[in-house]
Amino acid sequence: MMYHIPGVLTADELHQMAEDVNRAPWIDGRATVGAQGAQVKNNQQIDTHSPLYAALQGRVLRALNQHSLFFAAALPKTLSTPLFNRYQQQETYGFHVDGAVRSHPQSGWMRTDLSATLFLSDPESYDGGELVVNDTYGQHSVKLPAGDLVLYPSSSLHCVTPVTRGVRIASFLWIQSMIRDDKRRAMLFDLDRNIQTLKARHGESEEVLSLLNLYHNLLREWSEI
Ligand code: NI
Repeated sequence: MMYHIPGVLTADELHQMAEDVNRAPWIDGRATVGAQGAQVKNNQQIDTHSPLYAALQGRVLRALNQHSLFFAAALPKTLSTPLFNRYQQQETYGFHVDGAVRSHPQSGWMRTDLSATLFLSDPESYDGGELVVNDTYGQHSVKLPAGDLVLYPSSSLHCVTPVTRGVRIASFLWIQSMIRDDKRRAMLFDLDRNIQTLKARHGESEEVLSLLNLYHNLLREWSEI
């Protein structure tokens, strides 16, 4: 299942981030990829040793931790440290696999259940640069407004098509979810959204309370924390 999470960054946050990202030191994107990825990856990343990078990734994490829709869809246990990439002048990242496990500064190791791309460039400002994800329902092409995020299963093959005009900048990260199984996570998200809609439409009721109890009991049953 893929999810579009709008408004992760406000217009002000986005503006500030765009300025800082332009001042950041960019290096060859192959610095952070395995052997398979290195053959098809051609882009740049912000140098993770720079002080500006530390501030930028912290801002992405803070925004995600405050976003209720992101929380409901991902049910995150561990977030990887966000990275930043840039594509311009025909740069591309061919179809590849994201590694199943990654080292994490606090958790030691984390499993990648979900991949997330936070778009930072206005989609009108560049051509190409679509994120293409293959899943069991076919091929999906994603290009979102700046400040919006797409969440997709890390188990899917995916690529970024060549950028033929302008510059595409994004932040990306991986998530280990409390709910490993995509189908269970999708059902919980569906239930959660319907409870929120019922509550907004009809206010608190015994039925809403009972459904909320069901949601938490399922989460208790299935979560690994
Ligand atoms: Ni990837």
